[in-house]
Amino acid sequence: MSFTIEFQPVGVRLVNEEPLTLLDAARRVGLSLRADCGGAGTCGKCRVQVAASAHPIPPVENDRRHLSEKQIGEGFRLACSAVADGDCKVLIPAETMLSGQVLQTSGEEIDLQVDSPIQQQAVMLPPPTLEDLRSDFERLKDACGLADLTADMKTLRRLPEALRSSQWHINLIHHGHTVMHFAPAACRPLAGLAVDVGSTKLACYLLDLETGCLLAAKGAPNPQIGYGEDIMARLAYAQQGAQQSQKLHNLVIETIQNTAVEMCRQVGIADDSIADACLVGNTAMHHFFLDLPGASLAVSPFVPAVSAAQNVPAEDIGLIGMPGMRVYAPPVIAGFVGSDHLAFLYACAFGRDERKRLGIDIGTNTEIALQKGNRIVSVSTASGPAFEGAHIQFGMRAAPGAIEHVRIRPDGRLELDVIGDRQPNGICGSGILDALGEMRAAGMFNRRGRLEKTHPAVKLDANGMAFFPLSDDPVDGRTITLSQHDIDQVLLAKGAIRAGIEVLMDYLKIQPAQIDEVVIAGAFGSYMLPEQAIRIGMLPEIPLEKIRAVGNAAGAGARSMLVSAHARTQAEALTRRMEYLELSLYPDFDLFYARGIQA
Ligand code: FES
Repeated sequence: MSFTIEFQPVGVRLVNEEPLTLLDAARRVGLSLRADCGGAGTCGKCRVQVAASAHPIPPVENDRRHLSEKQIGEGFRLACSAVADGDCKVLIPAETMLSGQVLQTSGEEIDLQVDSPIQQQAVMLPPPTLEDLRSDFERLKDACGLADLTADMKTLRRLPEALRSSQWHINLIHHGHTVMHFAPAACRPLAGLAVDVGSTKLACYLLDLETGCLLAAKGAPNPQIGYGEDIMARLAYAQQGAQQSQKLHNLVIETIQNTAVEMCRQVGIADDSIADACLVGNTAMHHFFLDLPGASLAVSPFVPAVSAAQNVPAEDIGLIGMPGMRVYAPPVIAGFVGSDHLAFLYACAFGRDERKRLGIDIGTNTEIALQKGNRIVSVSTASGPAFEGAHIQFGMRAAPGAIEHVRIRPDGRLELDVIGDRQPNGICGSGILDALGEMRAAGMFNRRGRLEKTHPAVKLDANGMAFFPLSDDPVDGRTITLSQHDIDQVLLAKGAIRAGIEVLMDYLKIQPAQIDEVVIAGAFGSYMLPEQAIRIGMLPEIPLEKIRAVGNAAGAGARSMLVSAHARTQAEALTRRMEYLELSLYPDFDLFYARGIQA
């Protein structure tokens, strides 16, 4: 009886029939885990978390020696000791993974206007005398020239000691007219954190709030993935109770916190230099990081609990930085169109000209915006995770060992590009897109997407099922293939994206030839070849020179809003101009979708 072991966050799976250790399973699919003792059970470095398992994997002596009871309770096991004999999902922590997932932090570079709402100011106060009996706080207000300065009680309680211990010479850090912190000396640099919180990964940036300079950038997998690959599964988990909901909030905040600390250490600044943060994400992530209830996002009509911009004390959501640190969360647009979409459009200057522009962010939910004149209309389409490698037999995320490009030469020879230039152990989104584009050009499937069994490159398995073999050399006994089921999944995904585009063009009465520019965000958008997207019908026929990949543009938008009060105002104004169109209510959506899924 075969069973499947799924490794996250890389999304690679092993189908096996015999019990085996998780370390062996990882090795079979080409994943490199830390195993300093070679699997002897003595180093404790091969720690993984079993997030779900059909058969329990009880802890053994080695686990008890290297893991705390709490960790064991949370499903952590040593991969070299844990034996799987049934379906299971295994989460590999970043510190255990040697071959990392490709986490995109680079993207659209924009000119940052720097006018952070957080300022620091050196203030010299005259000490009190019998002739000058003003209170400490009145004295501070007079000395810094901010007559309407305010402070909460916690801050006021620290003031007398701060003034006297610094001989009345302090560095005042304030947010608008609210005191955040009194530092003994100038804070160099006054740092800020911009984060694009994605469902599978987080892109984190550390910036100097006074210059706008990028100090460090770091990606991290979203550990929530252990609680559901897609948003709906995580929302369902959160609905099980307050503890579960809190767990998902804590996981994302801990990841942001740990990544921020790592970046601070990397550039040699104190963790408490971080005074401000700007967090963007899809609406579910926005609710998770702000610790808002997500129940209304899980059921029709999928409305957010809160959509307006929030500016809250960081401690309210569990982030720790400078005393008084703030967190800005830009507005979300709808239940499935979040602040990451807004940040993407803002970074790409939507709303700042009147060109006809299409903005696409491809993911499990693909958000698409079309601008015409002064109108910007957005939709969200459920494209599924096929382009992230899920629901594809040999699918995986972009990580070493993933086939990222496929070419079929005129003589039928296959050429593969593999991330890390090594033996392939799966195929990621751009490879899947290429493969389908090349297969279509070679006539391997018909208009309905059925594989042509008589085509010389199409093979049949023992049950007569057609498939296309991608790797001629079996890796560890596996041949990487694309099956009819895989092709169906990709056609459904691209059909959903195409239908979203068609609805927007129909709604705003635009023909493909009239579109001035298409910007495609995200890692998949950066690696995919637009000509293949057009070939399989995911994008309409648009000249290639009009199509531009912008990488993690949502991260660029978040950086902009972090360092600029003006950018926040502009982005909030952009939100008010945007229209959201509900695809399921659009009269011809079914027709567009039926056309979209054709091969
Ligand atoms: Fe060393 Fe597992 S490899 S304890």
